[in-house]
Amino acid sequence: MARVDERIVGLRREAEVLTASLAAGLHVVLEGPPGTGKSTLLRAVADAAGFGMEFVEGNAELTPARLVGHHDPALVLQTGYTPDIFVDGPLATAMREGRLLYIEELNRVPEETLNVLVGALAEGEIHVPRLGRIPAGPGFRLIAAMNPFDAVGTARVSQAIADRMCRIAISYQDAPGERRIVTTVTGVDGALPASAVELTRLTREHAQVRMGSSVRGAIDLVRLGVGLAQLRGEPLPVPGDASFADAAVASLSGRLRVEEGCEQTPEAIVLELIGRLKPRAGEEVEPPPPGKAPGPALRPEPPVTP
Ligand SMILES: Nc1ncnc2c1ncn2[C@@H]1O[C@H](COP(=O)(O)OP(=O)(O)OP(=O)(O)O)[C@@H](O)[C@H]1O
Ligand SMILES: [Mg+2]
Repeated sequence: MARVDERIVGLRREAEVLTASLAAGLHVVLEGPPGTGKSTLLRAVADAAGFGMEFVEGNAELTPARLVGHHDPALVLQTGYTPDIFVDGPLATAMREGRLLYIEELNRVPEETLNVLVGALAEGEIHVPRLGRIPAGPGFRLIAAMNPFDAVGTARVSQAIADRMCRIAISYQDAPGERRIVTTVTGVDGALPASAVELTRLTREHAQVRMGSSVRGAIDLVRLGVGLAQLRGEPLPVPGDASFADAAVASLSGRLRVEEGCEQTPEAIVLELIGRLKPRAGEEVEPPPPGKAPGPALRPEPPVTP
């Protein structure tokens, strides 16, 4: 767990449940909105536990042949369907070598491909036409990720699959947690990441926004703010600066999904939300009085003005 903690902000309980699930040989679905740390968590846990991992992006093109593997069509003409010309897909590799199979966006996988997975989960083996049986090695587990708000819907994942997996729900972290993530990922501390996180969180609450930005938006806002400051020879931008608005619009507007019939553009929504941010002084803020130091990643925040 110490090695996992080094790479993950928060999510301690989820990391423990995931670690224990993998150790117990269980299959797991991580369910949560985009950018909540599902992939980061799984990679950290898998690395710490020494599990190898096969990675698959779930989408409508993921056919059974792409997931399982296929006979090389050119060689079939020469040799026929012999086992040595079978090209393993990620499922065959994960089963043979006893690795984790990580499928992102499980709910986007076509039904016939999901049915192959049911076989792997239910029997611990699959039967491939003209190849035969592939048994699952002892380390084989299916780890799936999915977004509960995905337009495709989670109901598509059949009960046959759902009933064979444990589920770990992951949601957005609180503001201090998101500030720590942004500071850890970007290496930037202070007013800029604090404002970036606050603004990003406001996008999730705006009445006209169906789906706001994940912490990825705040990370990009900070990186872009730093880049613009260097390019323009300015200090790091704070709300009210043109560079903050430029960085915020570019990093957040494309990530907002506005409500049907919304008249405001995403850019206008981002600019409106900047006006609601708490004022924060830039880098030349006085240190706090002794004994009242804020948390490690935070700069002192001036009182909110109405
Ligand atoms: N708890 C966390 N600890 C450390 N970094 C995090 C955490 N949560 C998110 N991040 C950072 O935020 C970004 C997005 O995280 P990640 O890719 O793990 O999300 P995800 O849930 O897998 O998203 P998606 O559903 O889009 O695949 C990464 O840059 C990651 O470093
Ligand atoms: Mg992911």
